[in-house]
Amino acid sequence: MAVKALKGFKDVVPGDVETWQFIEGMARDILHRFGCAEIKTPILEKTKLFKRSIGETTDIVEKEMYTFADRNGSSLTMRPEGTASVLRAYIENGLYQAKPIQNIYTIGPMFRHERPQKGRLRQFHQISVEVLGTDLPRADAELMAMAALIIEELGLSVSLEINSLGCKKCRPGFNTALLDYLAGIEDLCEDCLRRRETNPLRVLDCKNEQCQAYYKDAPAILDHLCGDCDSHFNAVKSDLDRLDVAYRVNHFMVRGLDYYTRTTFELITGDLGAQSAVGAGGRYDGLVKQLGGPDVPGIGFGMGMERLALLLEQREEKIAPPGVDVFIAALGAKAQDMAFEMCHKLRSSGLFVAMDYQDRALKNQMKQADKAGADFVLILGEDELVKNVGILRNMQSRDQYDVSLGGDLAEWAISLVDMIDKL
Ligand code: HAM
Repeated sequence: MAVKALKGFKDVVPGDVETWQFIEGMARDILHRFGCAEIKTPILEKTKLFKRSIGETTDIVEKEMYTFADRNGSSLTMRPEGTASVLRAYIENGLYQAKPIQNIYTIGPMFRHERPQKGRLRQFHQISVEVLGTDLPRADAELMAMAALIIEELGLSVSLEINSLGCKKCRPGFNTALLDYLAGIEDLCEDCLRRRETNPLRVLDCKNEQCQAYYKDAPAILDHLCGDCDSHFNAVKSDLDRLDVAYRVNHFMVRGLDYYTRTTFELITGDLGAQSAVGAGGRYDGLVKQLGGPDVPGIGFGMGMERLALLLEQREEKIAPPGVDVFIAALGAKAQDMAFEMCHKLRSSGLFVAMDYQDRALKNQMKQADKAGADFVLILGEDELVKNVGILRNMQSRDQYDVSLGGDLAEWAISLVDMIDKL
């Protein structure tokens, strides 16, 4: 029996990959407009990196990481998200010494052992962006505007939900209020009963419906923000207004990772069933220091490429692979030899060129050119070789032009590219 891919691990095949390339190209273009530089980090990291940053009592660390012992016994983990690795690399490579504020992004696979469903995979891909070195509210608004612009330029529409999770100063007061509220509720799930003791905020992230029913009326962290966090949140909101980025405040949003402080946000869609978050992120002041680096504040987001691709694929218009620029229809052995060389020279000159090596009838070759979406067909039949003049046909307008075949092939290729450019 043929070996199949693992559950939750998917191939992206030709025909679908064009959507991915479109997303990646668009994202890179926009990220570069915001001064983001790319970083590539390894997929495998020491397990303690994720435990220390994402938090020991999160679902990701408790249940979802692909963790295994290396051959020498050290515990390794396939990255479940991008931020921890990027910060590790930022510290290890001393990137903070080069520039006080750095916008960094990475695009690649992440791994979480979750129950696979539409829009939820075990290997998924994120566009992950981090802005390090500023705690100004303006950076938060600008980052969210960047995420919103990616969505907009992809032709999608999602809603932005924002919240503030406060800081070290205001979190204890909120924890007390939350614990008071939770006191005496005993039919919470096992995870919540345990997390109530270890990490009260985490209970609000529980997916269990019975627990969620209790949390609907739980105290809101926004009512417990300290003065600094409150004015930070207000400034973020007015800067979002200034940039015309629409948002909704959602005080229930706590996010599934422990490192967040102050602003958090999610890009939400109603078009993907249960998996509504197309992207999400937030501020994590203190995390760089906690990981052994300088005291540099940061904020970032991750966007799920599978979810973006699903949204794009739901539209009627499919993203087509690029069409052939020139198809050479060569008839007879001599013309086939000539076309074979021409193809290579034209490709060297920058064109997407194809031909049929089977020397089939002109009608079949024209059909093949049509299927390949060719803009032009260069016809080389016996007559054309005798006259040393090929026929270039514009496949859309059906106009035909003579193309001289003599002379140096490299020069000929350049002049054909020139001619096509002008047509
Ligand atoms: P996250 O909310 O865990 O945040 O993931 C961000 C996005 O990745 C989600 O909104 C979703 O689109 C996608 N995603 C997550 N899990 C899956 C999955 N199993 N299958 C498909 N897509 C998925 C983070 O990972 C943070 N590192 C984001 C961040 C960057 N915060 C600050 N900087």
